[in-house]
Amino acid sequence: MCGIVAYLGHRQARPLLLEGLKRLEYRGYDSAGMAVINGGLHVARAVGRVSNLEALVTADPGFTGTLGIAHTRWATHGGVTEANAHPHRDDTNGIALVHNGIIENYSALRTYLTERGHVFTSETDTEVLAMLIGELYDPAHGMDLEKAVQAALREVTGAYAIAVVCEREPDTLVCARKGSPLLVGVGSGEFVVASDASAIVAHTTQAFPLDDYNVCKITREKFTTSTIHNVPVTPRVEQLELDLEQIELGGYSHFMQKEIFEQPRALRTCMRGRLDAAEGTVVLGGLRQFAPQLVRSRRVILAAQGTALHSAMIGEYLLEDLAKVPAECEYASEFRYRNPIIEEGTVVVAVSQSGETADTLAALTEAKERGALALGVINVVGSSIPRITDAGVYLRAGPEIGVASTKAFTAQVAVLTMVSLFMARRRFMSAEQCGSLIRELEQVPDKIERVLELNDSIRAITEKYVERENWLFLGRGYNYPTALEGALKLKEISYIHAEGMPAAEMKHGPIALIDDGMPAVFIATRGSQYEKVMSNISEVRSRGGHVIAVATEGDQEIHHHAQDVFYIPDVPECLSPMVAVVPLQLMAYHAAVLRGHDVDKPRNLAKSVTVE
Ligand code: F6R
Repeated sequence: MCGIVAYLGHRQARPLLLEGLKRLEYRGYDSAGMAVINGGLHVARAVGRVSNLEALVTADPGFTGTLGIAHTRWATHGGVTEANAHPHRDDTNGIALVHNGIIENYSALRTYLTERGHVFTSETDTEVLAMLIGELYDPAHGMDLEKAVQAALREVTGAYAIAVVCEREPDTLVCARKGSPLLVGVGSGEFVVASDASAIVAHTTQAFPLDDYNVCKITREKFTTSTIHNVPVTPRVEQLELDLEQIELGGYSHFMQKEIFEQPRALRTCMRGRLDAAEGTVVLGGLRQFAPQLVRSRRVILAAQGTALHSAMIGEYLLEDLAKVPAECEYASEFRYRNPIIEEGTVVVAVSQSGETADTLAALTEAKERGALALGVINVVGSSIPRITDAGVYLRAGPEIGVASTKAFTAQVAVLTMVSLFMARRRFMSAEQCGSLIRELEQVPDKIERVLELNDSIRAITEKYVERENWLFLGRGYNYPTALEGALKLKEISYIHAEGMPAAEMKHGPIALIDDGMPAVFIATRGSQYEKVMSNISEVRSRGGHVIAVATEGDQEIHHHAQDVFYIPDVPECLSPMVAVVPLQLMAYHAAVLRGHDVDKPRNLAKSVTVE
């Protein structure tokens, strides 16, 4: 969603801020803006791409200066207009502010400030915060920028990451955080603040994340951190676990394509050091301390959204099938508001790539408050969800920049498989059975590599159907969530209407949609429900639908049923989603490219959804 970059140092801020904004583009945005202090305050904002903003500020000599803040906005309060884009200003002191998050009590604050004579020029909650800081700003009485920010934030409810400058303090940058990530990068004689490490790493690899309710005051010489109640805090500056190569395209056309092809490597890294086939054990350092509680657990609830929900659904199957523990999977957004029953022995697992999804974070907070053991299956280290969990397992998939999640999905399924085996082995599973599944799991990256070799034929088959506006994705058992994921991938980047469902459900209504030539993608790999899937395929064929099947290598029978077939290597049913999803990811990718869409920046979508 929204992105923040801010700079104070010895270099020109403008190019650095623009480069930072471009690195944040993947998060999704609809407008951008920048403020630079150069004698006075200079602000520019533009609807649309960062390049529109670039055209404005590059032509303007006002934007030469070494202190500045910048933002990409994804509209929440107020439409996509220049007036609503950040930075927002106060009306008296030359204060400018960029903000990620939502100020929940903005309406009451706006009424108060309007009564005090302030005039608003936007519909945003952010302008209210800028105006409130300005109202409190009174350096003659000790209320300098830092103190005014602290005081304003004590009045605010909601979530925020902010960076603030003031033309009356040309050597000061103030930033703060509650519930929305913000990192302070500490370079040599310079500081880069950003909502995402990708905007920092080109300049410094030393950084610290701000904690909730903390305010950081940066001057040209140093930084100091305190709470909003002005209690000093000492942050720990750490090495960023990210290098430039990971966030650059490196020969690929799109990040989504790069990340699809990175899956074998990501999975190997995800599993490295965690599996011991000879002993039949899974070693998950993050869970070791909680092993006794996990063994005794009576119920596991998995909460997530979007693609992460689909991997969590596979997790539900895995936990019941392998670990024999009752499991259920739920939209985090539904779980948090339905007064869920958490009894003794309940474990709640939040699954999330970003670790910032607002609903998933809130669901886990709710579950923890009700006494559940709170676990996380997260990719981004140090993000908000792992900060509140009791324990968890990181995906180690590396940064995922394409908005459409791909390698995080397969890594989530791999981690949930390992968690299930971790529990299974301590409950009912023999070392032999666990060892043999581990050996199969270790082969999954090689098998995905073989599927990736089908790239050209997948493109050719996609081309045949790419003009069709309605598609179905069908699967059973472990591959019902795979079907949901295939449909989601297609719709989010190619804007084709696609529905995923259990193959058996089709007869209960959706079959009415099938007309001549409608593409129906079946996950029809060898497994316990193979014959049933064949019957469902016949139902589609006899109504004129075109069947594209993902089938197991060596299955000749499938040609009697499907018009087009993608063969994937044989893999045990419980591990098959990680391999079967790959042709579906590639189909969605090619469909979007063939339709001329911006694959990495699909319309209306944000990489991490930090609002409800
Ligand atoms: C789809 C996609 C989204 C995310 C969802 C949850 O490709 O990326 O559906 O999966 O917004 O995000 P995380 O995993 O960051 O919690």
